[in-house]
Amino acid sequence: MMQHHRGVFFGEVQKALAAALHDAGQTDREIADAIPTSVNNIIWWRKEEALIEHRPVGEADEYSEPLKREPAVQQKRTAEPAVFAPPITDARAISVSDAQIAFVAPVRPEGDNALEIGTCMDAKVFIDLEELLTTRLLIQGNSGSGKSHLLRKLLEESTGVVQQIIVDPEADFVSFGETFGYTVVDAAKFKPAKLASVARKARELRGSIVLTLEGMPIDDQLRAVAAFLNGLFDAPPEHWHPAIVAVDEAHLFAPNGDNGEEKEARKEGQQAMANLMSRGRKRGLAGVIATQRLSKLHKNVAAEASNFLLGRTFLDIDIARAVDLLGMSRADGEQVRNLNRGDFLGLGPAIARRPMKVTVGAVMTVGKAGGSKGLTPLPSTSAADMTSMMLADDDVDQPATPALRVI
Ligand SMILES: Nc1ncnc2c1ncn2[C@@H]1O[C@H](COP(=O)(O)OP(=O)(O)O)[C@@H](O)[C@H]1O
Ligand SMILES: [Mg+2]
Repeated sequence: MMQHHRGVFFGEVQKALAAALHDAGQTDREIADAIPTSVNNIIWWRKEEALIEHRPVGEADEYSEPLKREPAVQQKRTAEPAVFAPPITDARAISVSDAQIAFVAPVRPEGDNALEIGTCMDAKVFIDLEELLTTRLLIQGNSGSGKSHLLRKLLEESTGVVQQIIVDPEADFVSFGETFGYTVVDAAKFKPAKLASVARKARELRGSIVLTLEGMPIDDQLRAVAAFLNGLFDAPPEHWHPAIVAVDEAHLFAPNGDNGEEKEARKEGQQAMANLMSRGRKRGLAGVIATQRLSKLHKNVAAEASNFLLGRTFLDIDIARAVDLLGMSRADGEQVRNLNRGDFLGLGPAIARRPMKVTVGAVMTVGKAGGSKGLTPLPSTSAADMTSMMLADDDVDQPATPALRVI
């Protein structure tokens, strides 16, 4: 047998290392080799710590030694008659495959907590509302992948159960005003300071609200959303009731890098969104945000969500960000290229412990576009009529238009 020179020093550092190796199931010999020290040191240390000896696989019991383990905690004797509880074997009786199924299984919330968002292989898929409120959600998918539809589904499912605050850049959710009686606020009509006070009021009154920003210049949108979110954030502690804060197209309000916005406005937006996602929880604010492109969304904002719903995504850079955030394998990440509209990979404590493909279900309300209506047929106007109509005089005083060439 080969002789190794082994140092015999065995101090605290070596003990810590030995404990880790022992936990990993290594034998005395293996531990001694790894440190390195003598096997005697390991045996001596192990006995002192009352740890069992791990044996090489298949080795007979000839080295068995009586182990002195810590005596079990003495039960207090009481005058009451002993109650014979069934032996606690249930936890161990579960088979390995059952344990695995239980581990990967999607959440099974009940009652108001169960937000049914769609199906996975014909089985219903839920989001656990209570969990969602503390762990937040990030939705990513290219334009047309079904993000707004998914947000709508989630909000419809939880309406009346929890306060909803919706930041709506495309006026997709104004129909919630009519259908559910939400207050719809057109941000263009108010100064940022007023929007902040509206937000504080919404917290106090626990009223659901849609802040719509359609048609506003981006810098004004940024300022409006920052003021509104800060208003939510600054509400006094007695108004910190749970609320979902849904932000569609979140990269608009927390852009990653410079897209030509005014610098101050961009910073305000980034800060307000980062606050919502990181420090909102204590205040009862649960960020649920959707974005077309993860790479366009500020990192601090994306990093704070623990739940993800990942829709169809084509660009490598966005897939790479998603893979990074979710800790998925690159191969799993590639799947998102092949997702259909309305299909999302869901992962997180409020959804499932392993990526699960969800087909989002139908919604009750309609978006601004009135649902999918396909292509509108083109008019059958003749080329000559079209030309004369396009060039017809109108009342607007305009410089002479160059003649349009019909091709
Ligand atoms: N799960 C779905 N079932 C049926 N229609 C859907 C579904 N998801 C999306 N759609 C439709 O597809 C279109 C694009 O969806 P939308 O949610 O607006 O995409 P995004 O917000 O990602 O750009 C809409 O007309 C929407 O109604
Ligand atoms: Mg959308």
